[in-house]
Amino acid sequence: MVNGDVVALDEPVGESLRGHHAHLARQVGRAVTYLPDVATFATVSADPDPGEWADLARLLGPGELADMFSCPATPPAEWEPVFVLEGRQMIWPGGGCPSRPHGETDAGVVDLGADSVPEMLDLVARSQPGPFWPRTHELGTYLGIRDNGTLVAMAGERLRPPGWTEISAVCTAPEARGRGHAARLVSALVERIVARGERPFLHVAEANTGAIALYERIGFVTRKPVTFRGFRTP
Ligand SMILES: CC(C)(COP(=O)(O)OP(=O)(O)OC[C@H]1O[C@@H](n2cnc3c(N)ncnc32)[C@H](O)[C@@H]1OP(=O)(O)O)[C@@H](O)C(=O)NCCC(=O)NCCS
Repeated sequence: MVNGDVVALDEPVGESLRGHHAHLARQVGRAVTYLPDVATFATVSADPDPGEWADLARLLGPGELADMFSCPATPPAEWEPVFVLEGRQMIWPGGGCPSRPHGETDAGVVDLGADSVPEMLDLVARSQPGPFWPRTHELGTYLGIRDNGTLVAMAGERLRPPGWTEISAVCTAPEARGRGHAARLVSALVERIVARGERPFLHVAEANTGAIALYERIGFVTRKPVTFRGFRTP
């Protein structure tokens, strides 16, 4: 059976931090965020009062980034906006796995763990898929492809709201693009996620038309537009 109530996707950070990723969470009152070096995302309840924003400020510390991901709640006026990024949330429509080109297998796709962190950070620096920190790999499975021993592509699992797993950190080194590496890694993750009865989803910046085209070709569909926002704590 495939689980996956789409309501869990409206607040994926809180649903993850209060559930599957509770062991990676820090909390003050109802304000919650990830451990340092895992992720910067933070969230509050659906209708936060000033006390809850004060809890989040205490949790993060003064003058720190409050990376609110797609949380629609607006902090008090003294929280300075740091970034606004338009994006979209895409979901796997269900009903099986991606159709692979004839003969394609997962040969050459390797699991990446703590030993691979330096090369993952190096690939991220060269390909800029979005935030990735030394402990981000603890959020889920990370897969990679090496070319002559050098990591040239990777993709992994990030947020885990009930019934769903987010695919993230999809990137291919500039010199290795257009060879199907990203499609292969994302498809391999989709297969693993579907096999454990969950549904994959992901987030992508609206300006990243190449990545959107790639995800649509694999079979993802857009669920809704999202706005990512970050603030500086007072
Ligand atoms: C997006 C990205 C991961 C694709 O990696 P890749 O290994 O080259 O992807 P694949 O070879 O599997 O697929 C390429 C296909 O995707 C599409 N595509 C990928 N990048 C594209 C781009 N910049 N512009 C237009 N189309 C693009 C094309 O349709 C291409 O199709 P083709 O195989 O028929 O030529 C890579 O460009 C990258 O690392 N970008 C920077 C990081 C990033 O934006 N990650 C996504 C974050 S959500």
